[in-house]
Amino acid sequence: MGNSIGRRLDFTVEGCSALEIGPQPTHRMVRGYADSQYAWHPRDHLHIWFQQEKAASPAGSINAVSITYCIAAESKMDIVAEDHDLRILRLELGPYETNCYIVIDNHTKDSLIVDAPDEAEEILLRLRGTEPRLIALTHSHIDHIMALADLKKALGVPLAAHPLDAAGLPEIIDLAVEDGIYLHIGQLDVHVIHTPGHTPGSVCYQTGKNLLAGDTIFPGGPGHTNTPSDFAAVLQSIEKKVLTLPPDTLILPGHGKTTILSDEKKAILRFRAASHAPDLCGDVLWQ
Ligand SMILES: [Fe+2]
Repeated sequence: MGNSIGRRLDFTVEGCSALEIGPQPTHRMVRGYADSQYAWHPRDHLHIWFQQEKAASPAGSINAVSITYCIAAESKMDIVAEDHDLRILRLELGPYETNCYIVIDNHTKDSLIVDAPDEAEEILLRLRGTEPRLIALTHSHIDHIMALADLKKALGVPLAAHPLDAAGLPEIIDLAVEDGIYLHIGQLDVHVIHTPGHTPGSVCYQTGKNLLAGDTIFPGGPGHTNTPSDFAAVLQSIEKKVLTLPPDTLILPGHGKTTILSDEKKAILRFRAASHAPDLCGDVLWQ
């Protein structure tokens, strides 16, 4: 192992019995793990560049290796927002690579689960160290609810969703959300914004400068629509309910990576200035 310095090693955490990170990890994922609030997960796949080793281990094994600097790591979990008051985790789950978000009050450790795509055991693992209070759905499409029944059973917390998306849900809605109301998770206020179009009951959840947007808006375009009238509706929702938010709002979509509202706004305004077919719908891009 002595010759691994400066070389990239790929491995899973499983079987690694003595992995030390520090003293100055430079990647936020590693910092997230190293603060012991989040457990290493056996399926986390790490890419670690060794810069210094304290101890060698048998050839081909990483057991008992101590790493003094680690500059990158990858996981199914990503910390997408973090400030004094909250932390938001993104889990990309299931065959449709749908995002589940866990919003955590840093002061009380109360947590909110936004969408339940799949792999309930993964969501439950990432909730460790928090007090789950509510599961809130952005909408009722199957790729956002496949873990819902298992999560409800395991956590026993209420389910919040818009009543226009109640049909087809495997669970009864305990808290019917509507435009303008606030959910309270610990000391966090979560604003419900009704954004119909992708589905009639689609909602976004806004807390601080973060917008958990479901499938209403993605980087580069609106959510999928099946009819021109649905497309007109989602466009109106975006213009009236999303573009009016502060420009530094982080958009946390139901699929894919985070984007910033100011970046999307430029593309949307260009789209609006152009002419389009009257029957436009489907998977539309701003450009
Ligand atoms: Fe959807």
